[in-house]
Amino acid sequence: MREWTRFDVIVKGKGMWLQDTKGNLFLDGVASMWCNVWGHSKDELVKSITIQAKKLQHSSLFNLTNDKAEELATKLVRLAPNMYKVFYSDDGSTAMEVSAKMALQYWYNKGEKKKTKFVTLENGYHGDTTGTMSLGYVPAFFSRYKSVLFPTIKIPSPNKYRTPNGFTFEDYVDHCLDEVEKTFSQNNNIAAFVMESGAQIAGGVTVYPGGFQRKISNLCKKHGILFILDEIATGFGRLGSMIEYQNQKSTPDIVSFGKMLTAGYLPLAVTLASKKIYDAFLGQHHEMRHFFHGHTFTGNPLACATAITNLALYKKYNIIPKIKKNSTYLQSRIDEISDLDLVGDVRHKGMLMGIELVSNKMKKSPIPLEKRIHQRIFNEAKKHKIYLRTLGHVVMIVPPLAISERELEFLMDGTIDAIKKISEKIT
Ligand SMILES: Cc1ncc(COP(=O)(O)O)c(C=O)c1O
Repeated sequence: MREWTRFDVIVKGKGMWLQDTKGNLFLDGVASMWCNVWGHSKDELVKSITIQAKKLQHSSLFNLTNDKAEELATKLVRLAPNMYKVFYSDDGSTAMEVSAKMALQYWYNKGEKKKTKFVTLENGYHGDTTGTMSLGYVPAFFSRYKSVLFPTIKIPSPNKYRTPNGFTFEDYVDHCLDEVEKTFSQNNNIAAFVMESGAQIAGGVTVYPGGFQRKISNLCKKHGILFILDEIATGFGRLGSMIEYQNQKSTPDIVSFGKMLTAGYLPLAVTLASKKIYDAFLGQHHEMRHFFHGHTFTGNPLACATAITNLALYKKYNIIPKIKKNSTYLQSRIDEISDLDLVGDVRHKGMLMGIELVSNKMKKSPIPLEKRIHQRIFNEAKKHKIYLRTLGHVVMIVPPLAISERELEFLMDGTIDAIKKISEKIT
């Protein structure tokens, strides 16, 4: 933290651009932590916040409800196949905490109190709270908190670039799936399998191979294990489809959305549950079957109104086909990026790209931490008027979905140039 004592202070956002106190402009290359959809200060969204702010700013969902929370929930269950009810929270981490508690209590209410284990994928990420660090254990982030995390059964996650020796990639994918099947067969105490939907992002941008998620979903059904999906970063168009689990032909029992739900304007996340899950919580008060979870700002009407407007904008601007066009453009730059000295691998789907930097392309060896690659990339990108952020040694390209082709070109030109400049300095 000694290296991060001075920050550029952002005071304004317009379209794809952020402006700091000195008037410098930066293209928002990471959609302000992967959540911005339409760019900043979008008229319709600002108007919707203003109108709602004059009517009702907040009213609790404890014993009451509010019109915006009701309307949004109705829209979300229409949008998400097989989902029946919505539980509101404030951010992705809490939405995933909710999904885990829901799964545990589902089995408790069913009288199966031993079903308390979670099976997860290595390198998955589900948030920064204690429960979600347990579920999505990225060792580089969380090893220092290990003593307080609950144990989960971890299944290896296929990453083509880092396929272990002795396997072809296809064989390795089969091996991972065999591990899932073996784990399910050998343990009768499993509550749920938890994974990100479509791709792992924070764990290094790893896009699942075709059929991987569907097969896990089918194995869960076969063994009577709940299937929990995390679409917080990958749903709402990031990977090119509105509902990624539908695209993956998988059927979760519980799924969470966040980030782009409000177009990145206000904090809101949701956990959706199927009817099977919901029904297990019904009972008389004295039976105490109800879900023991709630936050002060659960179902905040300002955030829900913004999400409703955001959903209308997805329809109005028909954004999903446009994402495909931008995605094709990103794809067209991959060869050029792969040729750069420091680049080991480029992984891409929809409006998500991860550029893995290595110190030796042949050996795929990581760049030593002392080289401060994250800071160099950030600073170099700023010189190119771009706000870029790396996760570990993976440069993340996660722009607002509605970015124009011209701005996307600016982003990619600047990123490529920044990587070139850094490679001159550190090799
Ligand atoms: C897949 C996934 N799940 C959960 C989270 C946690 O969301 P939040 O940062 O809103 O708590 C993130 C955040 O990046 C994420 O990528």
